[in-house]
Amino acid sequence: MIAAYMQRAQERVDTQLASLFDAPRSELARIYQAMHYSVAGGGKRVRPLLVYAACEALDGNLDRADGAACAVELIHAYSLVHDDLPAMDDDDLRRGKPTTHKAYDEACAILAGDGLQSLAFEVLADPRRNPQDANLRLSMVMGLARAAGPAGMVGGQAIDLESVGRQLDQQALETMHRHKTGALIEASVQLGALASGNADEAALRSLQQYAQAIGLAFQVQDDILDVESDTATLGKTQGKDQAHAKPTYPALLGLEQAKAYALELRDLALHSLRPFGERAEPLRELARYIVERRN
Ligand code: IPE
Ligand code: IPE
Ligand code: MG
Ligand code: MG
Ligand code: MG
Repeated sequence: MIAAYMQRAQERVDTQLASLFDAPRSELARIYQAMHYSVAGGGKRVRPLLVYAACEALDGNLDRADGAACAVELIHAYSLVHDDLPAMDDDDLRRGKPTTHKAYDEACAILAGDGLQSLAFEVLADPRRNPQDANLRLSMVMGLARAAGPAGMVGGQAIDLESVGRQLDQQALETMHRHKTGALIEASVQLGALASGNADEAALRSLQQYAQAIGLAFQVQDDILDVESDTATLGKTQGKDQAHAKPTYPALLGLEQAKAYALELRDLALHSLRPFGERAEPLRELARYIVERRN
């Protein structure tokens, strides 16, 4: 069920995303191409899937969630382009292809990341792509800006880089993961809920609990896969965390305990969805998928 649901939602967001990269003039062809390259093909689209699933859980119309689905993927793609740069994780392979700075060059990759980030907010602010009333649109812009910025993903990436070669305790590691990966996952669920037009306080609170749990679980699983998967399956070079002396859950707790922790977080996420009925099934399936995935 989740495979078919995922494929449908992936196709949906891919169609929307594809319409964003027509260069308005020939001088801009290369930067638009580099941005398109960074977004197209290979990504699991977990964040857009969460947008759609959260919108659906609150009985929303998916047409109203397309803008948010694009915006979170654009931010995510930008974060990956910059994460892979030589000054950060220095990776050559992403989604089974050369990283953007390898396929183009470093300066172009920096600009492509910058461009993707701006485009995310343009899409979210544009009433044609994100057809909500103006107040709701503003709340969505605010939610994504906070999650992407220094209080969220950028902050987490800063902690990550400062932590290389250091041993973090579990609380510090959790703080890093909640920022660098959890924040954008939380925002995806929040934006999907807001896009439904039916989000009340109680629903938003339950969904936030769900999203916090899977947001952390997502990075715990990413750390586990970096240890026990392989480069072909991952589409990115396996074993980089250890090679770069990154603090991770498997390094701190051992592989078995890290896996047990991921499952605990999944159960917490499922528990948070108790107030919701059948319509939250895609969110439940995504919680299971996040800790069972192999890439
Ligand atoms: C990888 O994210 C980076 C993290 C935040 C852990 P994904 O595993 O969602 O990467 P893609 O989008 O599927 O390539
Ligand atoms: C990435 O974490 C988090 C981001 C904000 C991009 P990682 O550095 O572990 O992601 P991968 O393993 O390179 O995809
Ligand atoms: Mg990194
Ligand atoms: Mg990395
Ligand atoms: Mg990783």
